[in-house]
Amino acid sequence: MTAAPRARRGIVLRGCGMLALWAACARPAPATVDSRSAARATDVLFQVIPGHPACVAPSTPSTAFSGRDDFPSPACRARAAQFQARMTLREKAAQMVQLGRDQVRPDEIAALSPGSILSGGGSGPPINDAAHWAAMVADYHAASRRSRLGIPILYGADAVHGHGNVRGAVIFPHPIGLGAAGDPDLVQRIARATAEEVAATGIDWTFAPLIAPARDARWGRTYESFGETPALAAEMGAAAIRGLQGPRLGQGPASILACAKHFLGDGATRLGVNAGDVDLDEAGMRALLLPAYVRAVDAHVGSVMASYSSVRGVRMHCNGRWLTDVLKRELGFNGFVVSDWEAVEEIAPGYDTGLALSINAGIDMVMHPKIAAGAIDAIARLVPERVSEARVDDAVRRILAIKCELGLLDGEPSSPAGESAAAASGAAVGSEAHRRLAREAVRRSLVVLKNRNATLPLRRDLRALVVVGRNASDLGNQCGGWTIDWQGASGPITVGTTIQEGIQRAVGARTRVAAALDGGGVPGAIIAVIGETPYAETAGDRKSLDLEPADVEVVRRAKASGAPVVVVVVTGRPLVLGPVADLADAIVVAWLPGSEGAGVADVLFGDAHPTGRLPHDWPRVSPRSTASIPVNAGEAAADPLFPLGFGLRY
Ligand code: BGC
Ligand code: BGC
Repeated sequence: MTAAPRARRGIVLRGCGMLALWAACARPAPATVDSRSAARATDVLFQVIPGHPACVAPSTPSTAFSGRDDFPSPACRARAAQFQARMTLREKAAQMVQLGRDQVRPDEIAALSPGSILSGGGSGPPINDAAHWAAMVADYHAASRRSRLGIPILYGADAVHGHGNVRGAVIFPHPIGLGAAGDPDLVQRIARATAEEVAATGIDWTFAPLIAPARDARWGRTYESFGETPALAAEMGAAAIRGLQGPRLGQGPASILACAKHFLGDGATRLGVNAGDVDLDEAGMRALLLPAYVRAVDAHVGSVMASYSSVRGVRMHCNGRWLTDVLKRELGFNGFVVSDWEAVEEIAPGYDTGLALSINAGIDMVMHPKIAAGAIDAIARLVPERVSEARVDDAVRRILAIKCELGLLDGEPSSPAGESAAAASGAAVGSEAHRRLAREAVRRSLVVLKNRNATLPLRRDLRALVVVGRNASDLGNQCGGWTIDWQGASGPITVGTTIQEGIQRAVGARTRVAAALDGGGVPGAIIAVIGETPYAETAGDRKSLDLEPADVEVVRRAKASGAPVVVVVVTGRPLVLGPVADLADAIVVAWLPGSEGAGVADVLFGDAHPTGRLPHDWPRVSPRSTASIPVNAGEAAADPLFPLGFGLRY
């Protein structure tokens, strides 16, 4: 069955001779597929749960840590077991629930004693600054210590490119740009800086990194991924985990819990549909998507988030084969698995059923259940008929052992409460050192696709320079999604430097920088900053990858002036350039650079050499909307305008 059907699905992966990180080939699947499943094209279908064809039971439920290694430490496992032995069933069920801060007030926490609280994208205090965040989180933490056993919550938030929800935090380039920079050390330093900003607000857990290789740029989460190759996802993902957690979870300052996401199927759904279906057999899944998790587990990631995706119709949230047999047993993952936002509700009609199916499959903590606090009772009433107490105990021990590693079970407040927390938060969030690091990352993430007649670097003593385009002076646009709001937003949404401001500062005093062609003669150059405007999951899925016609028009008009035209593309994914590929004299891809737009000018004016390389094949034409045609290097029909790994130098 192998060759023909895989070719039809467009995942024939050929060898390649590039640098390892841009390796166009996924390594061939290790021979770990057992002969029973390998013998069947539709292996998972054989194991579906009667009455629930979208779910697969694990071979045996997860009820104990694997013997893999000493993370979490034997001492923390013992501490977790001590607590678990003293807990009522309802207290255990509560540890397995993560409520949204929009669902529950601090004064309700002591009685409920949930395992965790989260801020969803954009969900923060009414006054959005670091001090108010710190005070809010401290109130939740302090309240949780007043519960019967005094077990603190974990407070989670999406810090996917810096502490993005918090106004004034440094916004780093989204991971696609870091994939272009291609330096795991840079990724680790950025993750460290992010952890410092997150910890300064008292938050102990971030839902990052996303470690899926994005295989179809129509996916609206392409920019959250480091690139299209399993090697980039694995290498950069492990570096991010090391940066967030520090040398060992809980050791050293500002160690926060990382969360590798989303296991498993992200990035490979048909047509790039978010939360869609993956048409790969087990060997294909292992070759493409599993390597990053092998590395993440090696790096001792403490939590993993399940994927909204399904694989050939089986939903990952209730797929015990992957969550338990592979992730927890085969890879030996001993942290805990959190479900994605309201995902268990989608598994089956009837909340209890979805809950039972997903917990039995291996979910340990349930994120933002629609019935909020009612979820605690719901879990408790599943035991023992539909979920064994042993499974609940395992989930609770996993969660508590991670809390122990973080030092949360030591009895000492992890962070100062209330007003003193607010006072303490100031220094790290938005610091100058972090802004410098972000600017370095911007410089190194830029990819130069074209440079006719050595248009770049630009001279800084031009008489006049015109900077046009919708992304020239829009901080929100250059930050993209997951900034201040879930989907991001245009405009001056936070503190930072726009690309235009960076250019303005880079030129000499004698250069006039104009925002439009104003009839004052032919300028020395026109910089057209075009591309995408903010989006995040689902809303960012696209059928076409074409540039907006208005952007093409901006470049056309610029070219008609007679001046050399430098096009800067601000984008979360490769876009089809169409006529712009010819019209532009130089083309620079800036990805979603974040708050430090001055890094763009650093490269345009030659203060830094361009070193970025494409983390994706850059398509010549938009993929057809009705079929998954190959769009990645190494796939049979890939015909990129610029190949994976491409990037000019000067
Ligand atoms: C939240 C996000 C969450 C999303 C899920 C939004 O309202 O802000 O954090 O991911 O809902 O649908
Ligand atoms: C997203 C996750 C995110 C969660 C919490 C979900 O909608 O898929 O990536 O961590 O919301 O905001």
